[in-house]
Formats: sequence, C-alpha cells, structure tokens
Amino acid sequence: MVKVIPRIPYSLFQIPSPQLSLHMLKKTLLEATEAGAAEIKRFIDLDFKISNKEGINNLVTEADHAAEKAIIEVITKNFPDHYILSEESGEIVQDSKYKWIIDPIDGTVNFANGIPLCCVSIGLEKDGEMILGAVYNPLMNELYFAQKGFGASLNDKKLSVSDKTEVIKSCLVTGFPYTYLDTPNGPIQVFEKLVRKGVPVRRLGSAAIDLCWVAAGRFDGFYEHKLSAWDSAAGFLIVEEAGGKVTDFEGNHFSPYQPHIIATNGKIHDELLKIVNGGELELNTLKDPTRASEVY
Ligand code: IPD
Ligand code: CA
Ligand code: CA
Repeated sequence: MVKVIPRIPYSLFQIPSPQLSLHMLKKTLLEATEAGAAEIKRFIDLDFKISNKEGINNLVTEADHAAEKAIIEVITKNFPDHYILSEESGEIVQDSKYKWIIDPIDGTVNFANGIPLCCVSIGLEKDGEMILGAVYNPLMNELYFAQKGFGASLNDKKLSVSDKTEVIKSCLVTGFPYTYLDTPNGPIQVFEKLVRKGVPVRRLGSAAIDLCWVAAGRFDGFYEHKLSAWDSAAGFLIVEEAGGKVTDFEGNHFSPYQPHIIATNGKIHDELLKIVNGGELELNTLKDPTRASEVY
C-alpha cells in the first residue's frame, strides 16, 4: 500500500464546485495522481523489471504496473461504479457517465533510462466530455491541472499559452510512434520539412508533458500522428483551458479516441494544420534565411 503524502496545492480545491460530487471527483483525481507519482519516485532509484510490448522498445516496467494499481485503488475506493480505461490493464467497463482515462507513466522510455521527463496522466470524462485533467511529473515537481471552464494551472500558477503568430518563429514539439508509420505526410516527412526550414522541433518522449508545455507557453505547438486516449486525455483539456486550441488533422475539435493531434496557442494553428497536411511553411518576412534577424 502506497503512503500518500499530501502535497497538492489546496487552492485547487477552491475552484467553485457547484456540486459536492465535483469536489470529491477533484479530490480523488488529485489523490490518484499523487499515488501514481509516489510509485514513480519510489522506483526511479531501484532496479526494476522492464519488459517489451508490441513494437521495438515499446517498454513497460514494474513501475508502470505499480503506479497503475495505486491509481486504480484510489479511484475504485471512492467511485466503485465508474468506468476506467487504463493503458496497461485495459478497461473496467461500467454503466456510468463517468470515465477515468489513465496513463500510469507517460514517458516510460524516459523513465526506464532515468530521464526525468515522465508523468502520471489522468483525465475524467462526464457524458463523453473531458471535465478534469491532471498531469504530474514528480521528478520535476510539476503538477498540471485543469477543470473544464475554470482554467489550467501549474502547481499554484495559472497557465496561459504563448502568443507567437507564425510557425517560422515558433518552438514546436512532436513525438514518434513505436512502430514506423509509412504514410504520406508521416511523422518523419513533417519533421524534416520543419527542421529544413530551421524551425526548432523538440522530442521530449512524453505526449502528456508535450501538451502541458504548450499550455505553459514553453512550446507554441505540438503535433503527433499516433496517440492513444490515455496519452492525450488530460493534456488536451489542460491546453484548451490555458487558452490554446486542440484539433485532429482535419481541424475538427479533438477527440482522444482518434490518433491525430495538433495542439497550439491557437494563433499558429491553421498554419501548422496546413503544414502537417502537406503544405509549405509561410516564410513571410524570412525571404533570405541567412538574414535571420528579420524574423524576430
Ligand atoms: C508514449 C509517449 C511518447 C509518444 C508515444 C506514446 P508511453 O507513451 O507519450 O511521447 O510519442 O506515442 O506512446 O509509451 O511512454 O506511455
Ligand atoms: Ca503514453
Ligand atoms: Ca504509459
């Protein structure tokens, strides 16, 4: 049994909760996130077992399983009749309007290599709409939280997205699936096109953190070609609540149940959408790339 040390900023609970049950949902979300994160912290300095899932280097560790168990214990203790979708153990199907979507460790390859870019990610849907999301990287002590309609925060600080207006001036982030996707405008082609034009595109190895860093204004945009619901469920709400925009590759409002994601500050969204679909970068002021000072 994991000892849960309360360190969640209690100001999060002061966000108005029209019903008592919403307060309980938030409390449970934050306790579950904390319980999973305690396992990440516990295992990071231990020798843990690592096994392979489908694909090369698609890892799962003892810590993923332990974090998932701790998270699900907290949720089922408080809400035994809720639906749960969790990466490693699958689904607990229930006839409920509430659905918890869990990635016990997002960034497992980082975790397995001791790279402190990994997190617990939990989103909560009510009647098919994401209403709460929490992403916690305990190795950097960063807890991201969002409640639908009430904004997003990092620890105790309110978040807002950046204000860049052009992709050429942006700092982007992406990720690559474990198995290579050989499609037109695939991950490598889009990455190459941006990098050839000199756009910095980072690859952190955790989609949930990528999304939170867009929400925090550290990145102006994120795109990825193949995510699962647990990778994006909490993070997409956090971006939206920080004032950003999240869609699929057609520009439709994002659903975590399809693989494509573009999440931006809103201002570069249409341009990045075009580029991901095969369009070229608008260079505007950058006629001659050697005269970089004209861009900024
Ligand atoms: C992965 C990470 C990575 C993304 C992959 C995901 P995992 O999740 O989010 O950044 O590029 O598509 O599968 O395996 O570390 O939970
Ligand atoms: Ca993941
Ligand atoms: Ca995972």
